[in-house]
Amino acid sequence: MARLVVVSNRTAAPRDRGARAGGLAVALREALARSGGVWFGWSGDIAAEDPPAPRIQEAGNIVFATIPLTRPDHDDFYLHYANGTLWPLCHYRLGLVEFSRSAYEGYLRVNHLFASRLAPLLRPDDLIWVHDYHFFPLAAALRDLGVKNRIGFFLHIPLPAPEVLTALPRHRRLIQDLCCYDLVGFQTEDDVRAFASYLEREDVGRVDPDGSFAAGERRGEVGAFPIGIDTQAFVELAETGVSSPQTLRLRESMGSRRFVIGVDRLDYSKGIPQRMEAFQTLLESRPEHRGAVTYMQIAPISRGEVEEYQALRRDIEGWVGRINGQFGEFDWSPVRYLNKAFPRQSLAGFFREAAVGLVTPLRDGMNLVAKEYVAAQNPDDPGVLVLSRFAGASHALRQALIVNPFDVEEMADAVHMALTMPLAERQARWNKMMAELREHTIQSWCESFVTRLAGSEDGRQAA
Ligand code: G6P
Repeated sequence: MARLVVVSNRTAAPRDRGARAGGLAVALREALARSGGVWFGWSGDIAAEDPPAPRIQEAGNIVFATIPLTRPDHDDFYLHYANGTLWPLCHYRLGLVEFSRSAYEGYLRVNHLFASRLAPLLRPDDLIWVHDYHFFPLAAALRDLGVKNRIGFFLHIPLPAPEVLTALPRHRRLIQDLCCYDLVGFQTEDDVRAFASYLEREDVGRVDPDGSFAAGERRGEVGAFPIGIDTQAFVELAETGVSSPQTLRLRESMGSRRFVIGVDRLDYSKGIPQRMEAFQTLLESRPEHRGAVTYMQIAPISRGEVEEYQALRRDIEGWVGRINGQFGEFDWSPVRYLNKAFPRQSLAGFFREAAVGLVTPLRDGMNLVAKEYVAAQNPDDPGVLVLSRFAGASHALRQALIVNPFDVEEMADAVHMALTMPLAERQARWNKMMAELREHTIQSWCESFVTRLAGSEDGRQAA
């Protein structure tokens, strides 16, 4: 079997493991746990100069190869272009998109740096699997160095419709670079359609009904590969997590009250202020929930150096203060707001205890928290998921209460409905979602992508 070489900016390398890992790093760690392989990425460190070679660490059957970034590279590539330009663009937030030529040049420079440090580690039959928006141009950079391996790409975040994508200066180059991959994977069919219509509208190429694409001399394949979780492992984590000391303390602190839970990186794509407003609306319009329900929002700080994220933090703090000031009692705070991460076992226990899971991003590639919340539930008394229609997860979890996160009254109604839903209905909805999560797991996701990549036709340069 060919060796798998995974590339992502953030890895789960031993030093970078744990609290800071976002959805991508957690998912890839679970995907690689069985097959093993090499995982290449940023070490998380800043260095004075580029290293001659990556640092190698082994953990189980994964070999981590990581490199630091210089301050200018980190700022141009990670802060400005990846997170100041591509992230808001792909999440439909055109008003937040910044663009500068120097940041884009830094983005290309770091992609070439990654290619040059990765290339010497490669064996001829390795399958290379590149992840996320940090690395649209990596295949092109590897090809420039003469790398002939099959290279696949998976975008964890949405690909916006062409009307939005074309607002990006130099969008054509970015998508042409994307077409240098042999297989391009997206989370949903919507993203595949956005890719196909971009190629057509901008006269870059075309996608055929069988999923093959042609763009100039490039040939490749494209498809939707919705990412999953390690369902059985998460079920077990929740079963044990529910009696972990942290979960027991949480339960005790809530007394007889029920609670609604939200767990997100503190990111403007997650719709946290809208969610707060919805909870305020719920308490205003349905007084029976006052004193009876608590909303706990866990939101570890993310990308705190970026100004937009600092502004978001201030905004949410305002909401928490207003709601607690308006409705709080000497023995009840309506909102508990925590800027920190928790061990996964505690989180799984928290999910199982929560009557409602509130996952209402304004836009999200998939959102694995939604899937984890469902997997964590007690079959005898499952909680209810309230889920944004703009999360990729809503395509699979159709029995959730699907809401439009821009409609705070609809969200308040959905939380009320969730809190008052009869057991039989909760179970019926949960059983269907659970069947879906058992069928489509992180392992089946990994297998289907890698199998397709291994079998994809090697048509990089049409003869
Ligand atoms: C999202 C992205 C990942 C990223 C993660 C955490 O899940 O898709 O690529 O790693 O957020 O963000 P950070 O900027 O801390 O790596």
